Amino acid sequence: MDLFTPLRLREVVLRNRLGLPAMSTYMAAPGHLPDPRWHLPHYQTRSVGMGLVVVEATAVAPEGLATPDDLGLWDDRQAKALAEVAGVIAAQGAVPGVQLSHAGRKASRTRPWGESGDAPLAEADGGWTPLGPSPLPFADGYREPAKMTLQQIARAVDQFAEAAERAVTAGFRAVELHAGHGRLLHSFLSPIANQRTDTYGSTYSGRTLLLRQTVRAVRAALGNELPLVVRMSCCDFLPGGWTLDDTVRLAPLLAADGADLIDCTSGGIARPETRPTSPCWQAPYAATIRHKTGVPTAAVGKITTLEQARDLLADGTCDLVLMGRQLLVDPMLPARSAPDLAPAPYRRALATTAAAGDGHLAPEL
Ligand SMILES: Cc1cc2nc3c(=O)[nH]c(=O)nc-3n(C[C@H](O)[C@H](O)[C@H](O)COP(=O)(O)O)c2cc1C
Repeated sequence: MDLFTPLRLREVVLRNRLGLPAMSTYMAAPGHLPDPRWHLPHYQTRSVGMGLVVVEATAVAPEGLATPDDLGLWDDRQAKALAEVAGVIAAQGAVPGVQLSHAGRKASRTRPWGESGDAPLAEADGGWTPLGPSPLPFADGYREPAKMTLQQIARAVDQFAEAAERAVTAGFRAVELHAGHGRLLHSFLSPIANQRTDTYGSTYSGRTLLLRQTVRAVRAALGNELPLVVRMSCCDFLPGGWTLDDTVRLAPLLAADGADLIDCTSGGIARPETRPTSPCWQAPYAATIRHKTGVPTAAVGKITTLEQARDLLADGTCDLVLMGRQLLVDPMLPARSAPDLAPAPYRRALATTAAAGDGHLAPEL
């Protein structure tokens, strides 16, 4: 299978197998709304030539914001504003997706840059108590989460489903659940963060219950036509943590619950952790899950060239390739390889610069 072979997920067809993963920009306007001067050009540009564009982690509830600068989708005003973002993505021919997130014990932080960046947000500065499976902070410098009550857990499931409904209303044609990087859904999976002894902890089926209930609720909210992607940290890199075998066991259960594709990331449950950083380093997780379970997967992580993407698809590693940082800095990469996918005003420029080979436009332009 090639990069430009369409991918069908339920009733939605991606024109090719290249996607932008969720990449937080921490640039929300007041009300956790997209800022039209930032989010519209940002996502429009990064949709050129793409099969799927997943809008950054978008909180399903105020307490699920990682930072005050995140997007939200817990009210209709937010849905209305996000419809503009979905619209610019779709106008470029990419499928608009949105990542629904609850930051769990990683909530209530400042955005990662600036003088007071990447720090806990005190109540006095507008911070709040994060929620988690157990009262265990993520790492030094992170706030201690409140152990969620059964009512709060049930409410979180509803919040994901309600946000999914709003995503559909806003025109998104794919929804991704953020169940990785130590956020709420991942924190329930991992014994490192989840030390509960009730129905949501202690055993494998207890720790996976919240994610399974969320997938079922979101599937019900989406109906049968739209795809549901689950982003999972396939392993924790820490002794006693969530493992790749755990993910292999869970993938078919999630598929039975209504998930269509597992987006295979890793890590983020606690610090310190050591992870490899070589090219395509997480792709073996996508391959293992795909081969052992038959559940479609996306590979992500230091994939920086279309040649690498092609190889991963050709050797059956995954069904979809996600390129994050590379497409943030080089959004015209896919269109350079397939100028037909670019908007008409760019097409001649792409064709002629490629033909000239030296970066100069043809004289008649
Ligand atoms: C600036 C930045 C923001 C990110 N935001 C998110 C996010 O909102 N949700 C998420 O699941 N992962 C997020 N990630 C992780 C990326 O989606 C991706 O998995 C990671 O960057 C590895 O892919 P890459 O090597 O192609 O960048 C972020 C990464 C970066 C660098």
